[in-house]
Amino acid sequence: MTTLTSPQVKNKLPNGSKTHPAIIMAQALIDQFGTLEKFQQKYGDIFYTPQSFLNPPYVIFSDPQAIEKVFTADPNLFEVGKQTSLPVRVLLGDNSLALMDGVPHQKRRKLLMPPFHGERMKSYGQTMVDVTKEVISQWQVGQTICIRDYTQEISLQVILRTIFGIDEGARFDRLKQVLIDWLDMLNSPTNSFFLFFPFLQKDLGALTPWGKFLKQKREIQSILQAEIDRRRNNPDTLGKDILSLMLSVRDEDGNPMKDIEIRDELLTMLFAGHETTASSLAWAFYWLHYLPEVGQKLKSELYSLDNSTDYNTITKLPYLSAVVSETLRIHPVVVFVGRRLKEPFELMGYTFKAGTSLFPCIYLTHQREDIYPESKKFKPERFLERQFSPYEYIPFGGGNRRCLGYAFALFEMKLVLATILSQVEFELLDNRPLKPSRRGITFTPESGVKMKVTAIKN
Ligand code: HEM
Repeated sequence: MTTLTSPQVKNKLPNGSKTHPAIIMAQALIDQFGTLEKFQQKYGDIFYTPQSFLNPPYVIFSDPQAIEKVFTADPNLFEVGKQTSLPVRVLLGDNSLALMDGVPHQKRRKLLMPPFHGERMKSYGQTMVDVTKEVISQWQVGQTICIRDYTQEISLQVILRTIFGIDEGARFDRLKQVLIDWLDMLNSPTNSFFLFFPFLQKDLGALTPWGKFLKQKREIQSILQAEIDRRRNNPDTLGKDILSLMLSVRDEDGNPMKDIEIRDELLTMLFAGHETTASSLAWAFYWLHYLPEVGQKLKSELYSLDNSTDYNTITKLPYLSAVVSETLRIHPVVVFVGRRLKEPFELMGYTFKAGTSLFPCIYLTHQREDIYPESKKFKPERFLERQFSPYEYIPFGGGNRRCLGYAFALFEMKLVLATILSQVEFELLDNRPLKPSRRGITFTPESGVKMKVTAIKN
């Protein structure tokens, strides 16, 4: 339980902008990082926005002690569904793990966790490398590529094969195409605006953004349902993929997952795992070529391996791990995580009422000069020199809601980087400081990172 009687408790709320919350939200949608930095400079490590007709009151903070307090508090004090996650709900559906709370959330996590860790997760390494090699095989020396298109192709195929268990044929091609169209629709700040404003969510036919969004989502749901039916009716089609696992698991009372729950979870994993991994990989390629000495250092580490090196060893390489960690620090693709209070809660000397949304800010935490000196510089060495606590380094959030796929994502990022960098040389054509640009609810490098393929080894 939280203490409300501490003598240090201030009665006032933290500072925050007097601008109307709807205007702040619009500003943040246009320039999320600039707005956050401006507020932090003006108001400090914690700032507050009062309730409006669009938003509950919310508090954004980047103090590791405050983050620790939230991540280690009793999860029953918070809820994540309802208003705090409107864009996520719209994308994923009501039965998504990302929107569940309390005991149902705990039970669903327990059901879904096993394949994302340990040996089962590592068994997907071969697929991750195979998919990467297939993608490289499309490239030719002299070709100009947008690396994000290919990291997206890789992460989508990895998910379709390891999670959905679909790897080729007409079903695979159709699902892949519809998903790409759906996700592409969200790739500009204006296209994704409707996710954040309920009054824009009106189905006025397939020519309007919301109508088109719904039509595509229905098509995806129907392809997923067909796949579920196919597996249920032919038990010999069940494999080691995560859909097969969902079809065979039973909860403590012996109940199977319902079709709608499976569909929403597939979409959750697809959405949570695909865009995030693809954008993070694109940032890694950018930095490794924008700072050639960093790229060279990583290649030297990779060149010391031979063909017999197993995937587990590769993913433990110190410099490769540091590059991945630094990429996720400097460009968190998710900017903050939300926890909505069900009861009053004390934080940093302030008391917040039930209904307030608390936002540990990943971006601002990772930009703190006291934890990450020269925070705007890409320096993988910082991860070799010291360890950061799970409240200072939070690319995957934390506590009982820490990203379900974090080990999977790290494993994949490392194997993709190692496979590509061991075989392909690039010249960075986007050789300038790149900014993050909104893609739905995540962020990606603007322009997708243009590179020229200069050599391919066999
Ligand atoms: C670089 C890649 C990724 C990043 C940066 C990332 C980041 C995050 C973050 C910040 C959260 C919210 C955590 C919180 O509220 O404390 C989250 C949740 C989640 N992520 Fe990831 N993620 C990545 C990849 C993946 C992958 C590959 C999957 C699965 C295939 C996945 C599945 C999920 C799920 C299911 C949740 C909801 C967990 C819950 O509410 O209990 N993510 N992720």
